[in-house]
Amino acid sequence: MENRRTHGLRVVLVPPPFQGHITPMLQLGSILHSRGFSITIAHTEFNPPCSCNHPEFFFLPLADNLSGYDTSFWNLLEVISVINVNCKAPLQQYLVQMMEKLEPHDKVCCIIYDTIMHFTDAVANHLNLPSIILRTTSASNVLAWDAIPRLQEGGYISLQESLANELVPELYPLRFKDLPYQKPSKVVLQFTADLNKVRSSAAIVWNTMDFLEHSSLSQLQQQYQIPNFSIGPMHKTAPISTTSLLKEDNSCLAWLDKQAPNTVIYVSLGSLAMVDKKELAEMAWGLANSDQPFLWVVRPGLVDGSEASNQFLELFQGFKERIRGRGLVVKWAPQKEVLAHSAVGGFLSHCGWNSTLESICEGVPMICRPCFSDQLVNARYLIHVWKVGLEMDPVLERGGIQRAIRSLMVEKEGEEMRQRAIDMGQKIKRCVQKGGSSYNSLNDLEEFILSWSS
Ligand code: UDX
Repeated sequence: MENRRTHGLRVVLVPPPFQGHITPMLQLGSILHSRGFSITIAHTEFNPPCSCNHPEFFFLPLADNLSGYDTSFWNLLEVISVINVNCKAPLQQYLVQMMEKLEPHDKVCCIIYDTIMHFTDAVANHLNLPSIILRTTSASNVLAWDAIPRLQEGGYISLQESLANELVPELYPLRFKDLPYQKPSKVVLQFTADLNKVRSSAAIVWNTMDFLEHSSLSQLQQQYQIPNFSIGPMHKTAPISTTSLLKEDNSCLAWLDKQAPNTVIYVSLGSLAMVDKKELAEMAWGLANSDQPFLWVVRPGLVDGSEASNQFLELFQGFKERIRGRGLVVKWAPQKEVLAHSAVGGFLSHCGWNSTLESICEGVPMICRPCFSDQLVNARYLIHVWKVGLEMDPVLERGGIQRAIRSLMVEKEGEEMRQRAIDMGQKIKRCVQKGGSSYNSLNDLEEFILSWSS
């Protein structure tokens, strides 16, 4: 879109190679592009975003030299640390070349990086470019992480098991068992400290909304003392739809068209969480026994990291016959469209932040089964504060799953929750409409970036 003020201005975006982080970064790119900025996505060679879905962006692959490393979920921290070392020189080199080749009226005006890619700060400094951090989790999660060293010093963390159901001091409404890490090692604490540093960045962008996280955002604003822009939920402003690394199976939308309104429970544990074969069997029979229609994502890697996770379902004798017509299993769904479909009445979820935003925005109440990290914090807010989430026993067991689905989908408790979720969805949508807090904050962000262009 031609815009005289932003014409010729390029923003470089640096996402890490994980679905839950690539998605909000591409959304931010799409939003800025719709306002006339040119966008470069500097990404790792590992897990690259699909450039074919985004012809409007320029993609810059960075040599990450990850070959030979274990890139599985269990080694994520090492992968992130290697990326932070190996990608620095290539990013710097590419940007120098890019800036040399720019036409006189073109300019790289800033770099926006996911806080996981914190090496970017040094590159930006070296090139005299301003930088902005994108935080892709909830603000409340960042506060929880910030509190962990303090709790450790106070001796609380070693007592965590006996305190599991107690409220964490100064972190209401979190209980000790809702903290993102139960017994963080030194490596984990250092990793988090690195994520929470602002370094020389000029501002922070949040994919959240003031009305949802007002108190946490105010605390963080005081702490960071640089402009904070809360512009979420970005998927409601971004013109792009797909940001998936895996191929979406759109056939499930036609299947949803045949189901009655609010009857289908959608089930997905996101892009990283795993279950073992026994847990998969419990989920399968919990869904089958619930007697509700369901759409279940069994992605490659869900079962113990196996690419052929879907095939394990074949092992459950009688499962396919039992669910025929009533349940559909796909490897990857167009989740935003699924949650916006009128047939979907509930979401059994790991409570990743993107999934949380996508669900509550569409007025879909959730069954919360957090797996790790920020998901525990998000689940606590969904259940206890926003009251649009149902608590489920963390042990995946067919009886518990069946009961949770029945409570959400057919009982009064679920109906009340659905009503609250619908109200909440309407309020969230107002945030991104003209005059809403996220809409205004996005305008402020644009002005902030433009202030560097003269
Ligand atoms: C990870 C962490 O687990 C999460 O807690 C953190 O907030 C971000 O990084 P992930 O497991 O990927 O996230 O979950 P989530 O944040 O919910 O993101 C998953 C994304 O994948 C969502 O945008 C969702 O729409 C998409 N998705 C998921 C699909 O498009 N199709 C699917 O079938 C499943």
